[in-house]
Amino acid sequence: MTYKANFRVWRGDAEGGELRDFTVEVNEGEVVLDIIHRLQATQASDLAVRWNCKAGKCGSCSAEVNGRPRLLCMTRMSVFDEDEVITVTPMRTFPVIRDLVTDVSFNYTKAREIPSFTPPAELKPGEYRMQQIDVERSQEFRKCIECFLCQNTCHVVRDHEENKEQFAGPRYLMRIAELEMHPLDVADRREAAQAEHGLGYCNITKCCSEVCPENIHITDNALIPMKERVADKRYDPLVWLGTNLFRR
Ligand code: SF4
Ligand code: F3S
Ligand code: FES
Repeated sequence: MTYKANFRVWRGDAEGGELRDFTVEVNEGEVVLDIIHRLQATQASDLAVRWNCKAGKCGSCSAEVNGRPRLLCMTRMSVFDEDEVITVTPMRTFPVIRDLVTDVSFNYTKAREIPSFTPPAELKPGEYRMQQIDVERSQEFRKCIECFLCQNTCHVVRDHEENKEQFAGPRYLMRIAELEMHPLDVADRREAAQAEHGLGYCNITKCCSEVCPENIHITDNALIPMKERVADKRYDPLVWLGTNLFRR
């Protein structure tokens, strides 16, 4: 079954741009990325879009469809009415390079700010031992495809450019939580999460979890437990005493 859909696609660059209207063929089983590719093939050969796997696994094709952050390759045309106008815009939180392609280097900067896995110095590779339950706890976080839809959605940076400096965003606060939960990691993740990576900015609105294409429970399983661990450290009198006595 074939029909003509009404698409409205943002075209422009860092200097500015506008929404442009297109009428384009849709075939059964297609996703929004198919339609963008058809537009490139038939009406707008210079339309810029980033994609790679077309299977929801590379995290490249993130954009906004009717204002909702989505993977273009995983958004079926069948979820829209045939007479609906479908608006495709670039992710709002990151600077536009051209058309649907944004500069996501903010995320790589944040990734680099987090110290990597830090096992105890005396342990040699091959001597690492951990329980299955600890392996399973972080498994969910490792499904992340780095699409940055959660980073794009979180209001802390979506509406406040000025917070970008202090706030790592849900994806990287989740990375810190993953490391904090690792039984062999000895780095101080709790203090750093709060003081350097802006965990306190998160007011658990859960919008990040809602848009995650991997259905990772970012807020419930990473951010809230991380907040609890930070609170335990700060307000547990024994931990406080220990930290302050041994610092001297
Ligand atoms: Fe994308 Fe989910 Fe990873 Fe965020 S946590 S970058 S939404 S896969
Ligand atoms: Fe932002 Fe997610 Fe927290 S949307 S405020 S990081 S729960
Ligand atoms: Fe790879 Fe969409 S093209 S996730």
